[in-house]
Amino acid sequence: THVVTEACIGCRFTDCVSVCPVDCFHAGDNFLVINPNGCIDCGVCIPECPEEAIHPDTMLPEGQEHFLDLNRVLAEKWPVILEAEPHPADAAEHRGKAGKLEMLRM
Ligand code: F3S
Repeated sequence: THVVTEACIGCRFTDCVSVCPVDCFHAGDNFLVINPNGCIDCGVCIPECPEEAIHPDTMLPEGQEHFLDLNRVLAEKWPVILEAEPHPADAAEHRGKAGKLEMLRM
């Protein structure tokens, strides 16, 4: 599966959503996740993300391995998102920042 990682938090650009052929993105307030039961590992979402937040589960950034479980758990809780949406007004402030997990709204 592919995994949305910390870089997405607060940015939530949603460019990834419209290219997914199997509609497996699920949306929270300020973060998106991928349903590991739907993802076919096609990888088309990877270059769409301006934050480079999406990675294969075999190549997760160091220290972000737990995002695999977080994607699985939140995909069960959050609704599917099918269309791109306007990003948060303050998305630019959160670009490229580390330590964003604490601002995740679940
Ligand atoms: Fe997040 Fe990037 Fe998609 S910031 S919503 S993973 S385009």
